[in-house]
Amino acid sequence: MTRILAIETSCDETAAAVVADGRRVVSNVVASQVEIHARYGGVFPEVASRQHVLAVVPVAEQALREAHLSASEVDAIAVTRGPGLPGSLAVGINFAKGLALAADKPLLGVNHLEGHIYAAWLHEAETDPPEPPAFPVMALLVSGGHTELVLMEDHLRYRRLGATRDDAAGEAFDKVARLLKLGYPGGPAIQAAAQQGDPARFPFPRPWLKDSWDFSFSGLKTAVLRAVREIEAAGRPLPVAHLAAGFQAAVVDVLVGKTLQAAAAFDAASIVVAGGVSANDLLRQRMLAEAKIPVHVPPLRYCTDNAAMIAAAGYRRFTAGQRDDLDFDLLPRWAIA
Ligand code: KG4
Ligand code: ZN
Repeated sequence: MTRILAIETSCDETAAAVVADGRRVVSNVVASQVEIHARYGGVFPEVASRQHVLAVVPVAEQALREAHLSASEVDAIAVTRGPGLPGSLAVGINFAKGLALAADKPLLGVNHLEGHIYAAWLHEAETDPPEPPAFPVMALLVSGGHTELVLMEDHLRYRRLGATRDDAAGEAFDKVARLLKLGYPGGPAIQAAAQQGDPARFPFPRPWLKDSWDFSFSGLKTAVLRAVREIEAAGRPLPVAHLAAGFQAAVVDVLVGKTLQAAAAFDAASIVVAGGVSANDLLRQRMLAEAKIPVHVPPLRYCTDNAAMIAAAGYRRFTAGQRDDLDFDLLPRWAIA
């Protein structure tokens, strides 16, 4: 059995986990800063770094304790190398480097987005491993910072087909939630408000970008802003539920439509939906209902930022014989070395 301890501090969650053989979650600890950042209406980078400094050691200790292991008993240490907030990434990377040095363990730098995809391989310790996603995998990564379509031909082999040209899907949810005064984080708030709304009341545009696998959500956000301004100018109360439902339906239409089209174009054998926005019920339901190939959507706790997914990706790198030097840098972009 190969056990990987992973550390993730790319944004506003301090996380550590132990995963066995790249799939079985032995322990998974996440210290969320969301309540602290809610006061600022978004992630405040300097506050985030400081919270990671406070939390990283106790969180890693808890992950090892819950796994009944010491650092000397794991096979390797994986850490999110980027992309993410530089000050936040640095806390996790430096901690992981120090621990790897002290415990004399191999260190593996993992791309955060690669981690989100590998969440689809995870399963709980008490359940039998389900069938893993079949290659080629079409992965839709939708988070607060990213919206990407990635074709994964085999383990560790990625082809980035398209990405957002402006706002990430989660960012659009967060910005529209702010417009509708629904608070932060916006995704869950929009989803809750949309339940009482009629998605047809406001037929917002479905930004498609023909002949491209890219996405664009800023025009849709502007369309919501325009509708809000018109209603406010007329002195009418905001129909928040209808606006939220109309916006959510437009985003989900585009995400599901493009993913299914790409899956067909590249003969994908399965679909993985990952990242914080994959927590969205409508997105999950529609993808599962409309796809003709198996769709893998990880449980919610592995969709939002966590370290188990980093351990799962780290395992593949470890078994492929990859090792990183202790002087590696942050990874600012998608490129997976
Ligand atoms: O993956 P994640 O936890 O962090 C990043 O790496 O960005 O994603 C966070 C994003 C936020 O923008 C949040 O609003 C969105 O995921 N999100 C949702 C839902 N839950 C979280 N968006 C739509 N519907 C949801 N239920
Ligand atoms: Zn993420």
